[in-house]
Amino acid sequence: MASVQQNNSRKSRKILITGGAGFIGSNFVHHWCNNYQSDRVVVLDALTYAGNRNNIASLEKNANFLFVQGDICDRSLVDKLLAEEEIDTIAHFAAESHVDRSILGPGAFVQTNVVGTFTLLESFRQRWLCQGQPLDYRFLHVSTDEVYGSLAPEDPAFTETTPYTPNSPYSASKAGSDHLARAYYHTYGMPTIITNCSNNYGPYHFPEKLIPLMCINILLGKPLPVYGDGQNIRDWLYVEDHCRALDVVIDRGKPGETYNIGGNNEVKNIDLVRQICILMDELAPDLPVSPSEKLITFVKDRPGHDRRYAIDATKIKTELGWSPQETIEGGLRRTVHWYLNNRDWWQPLLSPEYQTYYQQVYS
Ligand code: NAD
Ligand code: TYD
Repeated sequence: MASVQQNNSRKSRKILITGGAGFIGSNFVHHWCNNYQSDRVVVLDALTYAGNRNNIASLEKNANFLFVQGDICDRSLVDKLLAEEEIDTIAHFAAESHVDRSILGPGAFVQTNVVGTFTLLESFRQRWLCQGQPLDYRFLHVSTDEVYGSLAPEDPAFTETTPYTPNSPYSASKAGSDHLARAYYHTYGMPTIITNCSNNYGPYHFPEKLIPLMCINILLGKPLPVYGDGQNIRDWLYVEDHCRALDVVIDRGKPGETYNIGGNNEVKNIDLVRQICILMDELAPDLPVSPSEKLITFVKDRPGHDRRYAIDATKIKTELGWSPQETIEGGLRRTVHWYLNNRDWWQPLLSPEYQTYYQQVYS
C-alpha cells in the first residue's frame, strides 16, 4: 500500500469506517491501519453480498482494530458504537453500489444509501453535540461522480458546482445522501465533507463490476459482455489513489466543502476491455480462449446508461495538493496481476446467488 507523507502534528483519530469490508472501504482500512498504527479503527459492515471479511482479516489481530458486523440503519447499534468507542471521525463508505442491481431492485438502495446515511448523520450529530461540538470531528461522506448525470462528448468535466442530475436509482440514492450530508453542515454546522469520485479499480473489487468481470471471464473463457456500442466513457482511478485523496480530505479538507476526485483517465469501455484482453494474453498462461478479444460480445444496453463521466479535480489539487500517482496502464497491469494471483479470493464469490443475478442481467 502507498504511504502518505506523515504529518508530525497530526491529530490521532478514533475512526469508524462503514462499509470497510467492501472494495474501496477495505482498501481504505488497509491504508489507514498501515499509516496510522496508533489510531483506533472500528469497521462497521453488514456483510451484504458485496462485503467480505477476508478483505481485512489480516488486521483483526491488531489491538487497535475492531470489526463489527451490523447495519448502518440500526440506530441503537450506531449510537452504542460511537459512544463506547468515543468515535470522532466517520469515513462513510457503506452503500449499495452497483447500478445494474439498482435497476433490478431500487428499494435496498434507498434504504442503505439514504436511510442509512441519515441514521449515521443523526447519531454522529448527537455525539458531536454531547461532546460540545468539537471542531476537529469529521464526517466524510464518500460519494460518486454519477450524481452529476451524463456528459455529451464536448461537455466540460464535472466540477463541484455542476448541478446534480442523477439518472439511475443508484445515483439518485447517492444524490439524496449527499444532500443530507450537505444539509447537516449548513443547518447544524456539523463538520461533514463530501467527496465525489470517478470509477475506481484495483484489488478486492467484487466480480460484478466491469474490470473484475472482464478479468474473471477471460480466465474462465466466458463471453465478455459489452453494453450497447461500447462507446460509453468512464474516468478511471486506481483505488489506492482514492484512499490517499480521502486521507488528505479528512486531514486538511474544509468542513462543508465538496471535493471531486478523478484519475484524468477517460477511456471508452470497448478500449478498456481490449486493453484488459491484451494484458491477460501477455500475463496469463494457458487461457481457455486466446486471443481473449475473441470473447468480446456486444449485448443489450443497460437502461438509462450514462454516456460519459469526467471529473475536473482542480480543487483538490490546488487546495489540498492531491493528484493521482498511478497511470491507467500501470494500474490495469497491477489489477490484472491481482486477479490472476488471487483466484482463491474471487472463485467463492461466484456463488449460486451471484449466478442468479448474472442470469437476470445478461440473459
Ligand atoms: P461495495 O459494494 O464494494 O462495498 C459496499 C460495502 O458496504 C460492503 O462491504 C457491504 O457489505 C457494506 N454495506 C452495504 N449495505 C450496508 C448496510 N446497510 N450497513 C452496513 N454495511 C453495508 O462498494 P464500493 O465500490 O467499495 O463503494 C464504496 C463507496 O464508494 C460507496 O458509497 C460508493 O457509492 C462510493 N463510490 C464507489 C465508486 C466505485 O467505483 N466503486 C466510485 C465512487 C464512489
Ligand atoms: P460499472 O463497473 O458497473 O460501473 P458504473 O456503471 O458505476 O460506471 O460499469 C462501468 C462501465 O462499463 C459502464 O459504462 C457500464 C459498462 N459495463 C459493460 O459494458 N458491461 C458489463 O458487463 C458491465 C458490468 C459494465
